[in-house]
Amino acid sequence: MQSNSEEIIALPLNFKTHANFNLENYKDLQASFQQDYLGTWAKLAQEELFWHKDFSQTLDDSDKPFYKWFLDGETNISYNCLDIHLNDRGEKAALIFEDEAGESEILSYKVLHARVCEFTVYLKNLGVKKGDRICIYMSLCPEAIIAMHACTRIGAIHSVVFAGFAAHAMKDRIDELSAKILITQNGFYRRGKIVDLLEVATEAISKNSPVEDLLIFKRVKEPLSLQSSLKIQIHDLDRELKDLANLNLSTHEVLEQTPEWLSGNDTSFILYTSGSTGKPKGIEHNTAGYLLWAKLTSKWVFDLKDEDVYWCTADIGWITGHSYVAYGPLANGATVFIYEGAPNFPEADRYWALIEKYKINIFYTAPTAIRSFQAWGLEHIEKHDLSSLRLLGSVGEPIGTETWKWFYENIGKSKCPIVDTWWQTETGGIMLSTLPGVNYMIPGTAGPALPGISAEINPEGLLHLSKPWPSMLKGVYKNPDRYIKGYWTKIPDSYLPGDLADISVEGYIKIGGRNDDVINVSGHRLGTAEIETALAKHQTINESAVIAIPHAIKGEGIVAFVVLKQGLMNVTDSQQSHGSTEERERILKEHVANEIGAHAKPERIIICEALPKTRSGKVMRRLLKDIAQDRLPEGDLSTLEDKDVVAKLLAVSKLKQ
Ligand code: PRX
Repeated sequence: MQSNSEEIIALPLNFKTHANFNLENYKDLQASFQQDYLGTWAKLAQEELFWHKDFSQTLDDSDKPFYKWFLDGETNISYNCLDIHLNDRGEKAALIFEDEAGESEILSYKVLHARVCEFTVYLKNLGVKKGDRICIYMSLCPEAIIAMHACTRIGAIHSVVFAGFAAHAMKDRIDELSAKILITQNGFYRRGKIVDLLEVATEAISKNSPVEDLLIFKRVKEPLSLQSSLKIQIHDLDRELKDLANLNLSTHEVLEQTPEWLSGNDTSFILYTSGSTGKPKGIEHNTAGYLLWAKLTSKWVFDLKDEDVYWCTADIGWITGHSYVAYGPLANGATVFIYEGAPNFPEADRYWALIEKYKINIFYTAPTAIRSFQAWGLEHIEKHDLSSLRLLGSVGEPIGTETWKWFYENIGKSKCPIVDTWWQTETGGIMLSTLPGVNYMIPGTAGPALPGISAEINPEGLLHLSKPWPSMLKGVYKNPDRYIKGYWTKIPDSYLPGDLADISVEGYIKIGGRNDDVINVSGHRLGTAEIETALAKHQTINESAVIAIPHAIKGEGIVAFVVLKQGLMNVTDSQQSHGSTEERERILKEHVANEIGAHAKPERIIICEALPKTRSGKVMRRLLKDIAQDRLPEGDLSTLEDKDVVAKLLAVSKLKQ
């Protein structure tokens, strides 16, 4: 148990008095949850969401751990994010968008609603129905959010694939989903260059794909160029949406597109994330519970107010971009800023220029980005007026005390609370965080569990959530076994996220990192087995073992130890084969990037003769971690099959420093 001797930072007084959620609300809500857990969730759901049909049962737990929230209630996510604001906030900016070239667009709630409805009509005309799976492979732009909302409006299940994923990774997802529709765009600009999404998308569906319709938004001016001879319907959305607008459909007919009323437990989306096997898992989310928590946490944790301009830098390809860009803030009627491009283009001050230009009030980003800002230097920050900021947030990986303080002092000018939010793709929304009107902060410590969330730490230091909560995952797509074994078996009746943690007497939880073979590179989860599986597909590789080592900017960096097939290389023949070894390493790094995506590219590939295995054949990873960091391996090595392997590994690793 950690002590509270760590530095405590008090909340600014104005937050205590003006926050959406203050100490009194907090105490009342905690007491209410204690007295009547499900009754309190039911009350919140009734207050916060529009129900086409009321639910009669809050939680159906008859088939644990397949918990079903608000099963017989009927609602719709997109309706709750858009339609409910039309009367009061129709003219208010819902989305403010700027692309890398500086072009901007503002979509009011009315306009966003109209465009979502129009795209809904379009999808329905294509035959899209409730339950269909639709894959979205797009950059962070209004059209992507429109596509997501159009899906949830129909009850089609979207699965967004981050635009950095490679064709193979996308194909695996599309195939498992049996997605008949893929929505993409003809590219976007990143660091001044076009990222050709269409090329990757086309490759992903070029062979034996379930995709029947490829829908392409025109996001860059270049003409659509499709090299492949795909035998599917290709839709130029720029043209076809214009045609639709010219059809005899009146605006009224389009806007009257009533949403599909869905059961609270219907799947709204599937988002793939990495686990401890070679295959990513499709995390399935429900409709009502998911939205309820995305809405409440946006309001409580970010203290979202009607006049705020809110910016979360996450991409829609990750859960943060779902809950805290596309859905939660809009459900609160907020103004959401989105930026498509690199943070250091054209200069390293781009984010600060954007904050100044759009008078951003709330800024939610990842520690890896903060560490980059730190490295780029204060001069980029000092050029800009950041006085509009009033709250900062961090997500995705441990922020660490020093980075926390740097963020607090240099970006928040020691006046903005920081919410260090711990959660996962699976939890749907934030589970642990301080609340800016309630809890003091401890740099580097996420904070207490939010009201309604029951977080505990077992004697082994494993964090677990001992009560079901509305935004919890429904399951792992097509793999109930993986859901049960991966999350619910080790600690009975408790959800196991896979993180190690420490708890203070006041219930503040400090995350210590993962307890499994999942690594966190720049806030992105990757399985070591997933990278090993990708490496195994390369013709030269016999076997490999992937580990993570600390990385100054990315948090963790990937190191892969690989053994080549016999006869391919004499690794001890150092000087002569040096050049070709380097070439092999480069090829293998590229290979991983081509299989999974650039974010999975190893920092180092270490070609070695053999992996250190125990007599039972298990790779001793802790030893590889030591070697990759140039440390003499510590601990018990007596179970090693071949003791000489250590010296050989140290020799090749040093050689490559
Ligand atoms: O290890 C935790 C880390 O990120 C994992 C979840 O990754 P993902 O599902 O991709 O979702 C990331 C965005 C919610 C967690 O199991 N993590 C997330 N937030 C924090 C964190 N580690 C420490 N502190 C955090 N605030």
